[in-house]
Amino acid sequence: MTKQWLFVALFGVALLSSLAFVQARENGEADPSQETAQAQDAPAIDATEQPIQFPHDKHAGDFQIDCQYCHFSAERSSSAGIPPVATCMGCHAVISGSDAPEEITKVRDYWERREAIPWVRIYRVSDHVQFPHMRHVAAGVDCASCHGNVEEMGVIQAVEQELTMGWCVNCHIEERASIDCAVCHY
Ligand code: HEC
Ligand code: HEC
Ligand code: HEC
Ligand code: HEC
Ligand code: HEC
Repeated sequence: MTKQWLFVALFGVALLSSLAFVQARENGEADPSQETAQAQDAPAIDATEQPIQFPHDKHAGDFQIDCQYCHFSAERSSSAGIPPVATCMGCHAVISGSDAPEEITKVRDYWERREAIPWVRIYRVSDHVQFPHMRHVAAGVDCASCHGNVEEMGVIQAVEQELTMGWCVNCHIEERASIDCAVCHY
């Protein structure tokens, strides 16, 4: 850490304690019609604990399903969104699975019980940071530049990219996006 960043951090502590914590995190913003199960309060953890071993490589790789077919709020809201069970059932009412049919049975069980799948959240920024997916999608920033080659991943295991302030700010400088404290902290 350079001295400059140390200064910024110290200055920021004062700024944030006066501003950011007054602002509730946008938990309420998730679109209820999506019935998403975003495990809002869970910390980022080892995703081997996911309730269903969902293979991104099969869906986004082998079968080339578009990321935004499932993460359909990415272009219009802050969160990318996790698809509801109904989206899964669009295919898995008929596709039973050849390698791991027991995982598909679990999907169908959640559907029959009318329960959302309790996915464990992997990527999360601190509560005092605002991250708008739609602004990045609109600017043409690839999902892969932040999440890696998801279409080659089986179960997404861990954070591919540490979500530090330096990482955000470096790209913003390169891409001439704003580096005003207030665009990310408010
Ligand atoms: C068939 C639906 C589907 C498709 C297509 C899909 N995903 Fe996902 N994605 C999911 C589900 C379900 C989860 C939650 C389970 C998990 O984390 O593995 C998820 C989780 C994620 C996460 C982790 C979210 C978190 O918890 O922080 C990222 C990142 C992600 N997807 C990116 C992508 C990208 C990039 C693509 C395209 C290359 C893609 N996804 C395609 C369904 C899909
Ligand atoms: C557009 C169609 C489609 C959607 C939507 C879809 N899947 Fe799949 N899924 C597939 C196909 C095709 C396979 C590969 C089946 C095979 O290999 O036999 C698959 C495989 C799987 C597998 C591995 C099973 C195996 O035997 O390999 C799991 C688990 C799974 N899907 C879960 C989900 C979940 C959870 C959702 C919703 C978030 C979802 N899928 C949405 C088409 C889809
Ligand atoms: C500029 C970096 C960046 C790009 C580009 C990006 N993401 Fe994210 N993504 C993040 C960050 C940071 C988080 C954590 C956000 C938070 O905690 O509020 C995240 C969280 C997620 C999540 C967790 C659930 C949610 O609702 O946010 C999913 C799913 C996801 N991203 C999918 C995608 C997909 C799909 C794309 C491409 C359409 C994409 N992301 C593009 C940085 C990015
Ligand atoms: C790979 C490059 C990249 C990374 C990494 C990145 N951003 Fe961005 N960000 C952009 C671009 C490009 C824009 C669009 C600028 C525009 O619309 O003019 C943007 C826009 C934004 C905006 C809207 C700015 C405004 O003027 O209103 C916010 C807020 C933001 N990013 C937050 C973040 C946060 C928080 C992180 C880290 C967790 C992050 N970004 C990481 C490239 C990136
Ligand atoms: C492009 C987005 C972005 C901008 C612009 C930005 N920050 Fe941050 N900031 C972040 C992220 C992301 C974190 C969370 C880092 C983490 O959790 O590791 C953070 C964390 C912090 C922290 C907490 C200390 C820490 O390291 O976690 C302080 C203080 C802070 N920022 C102050 C500022 C100040 C002051 C400015 C303006 C000079 C600023 N930030 C501009 C994204 C941004």
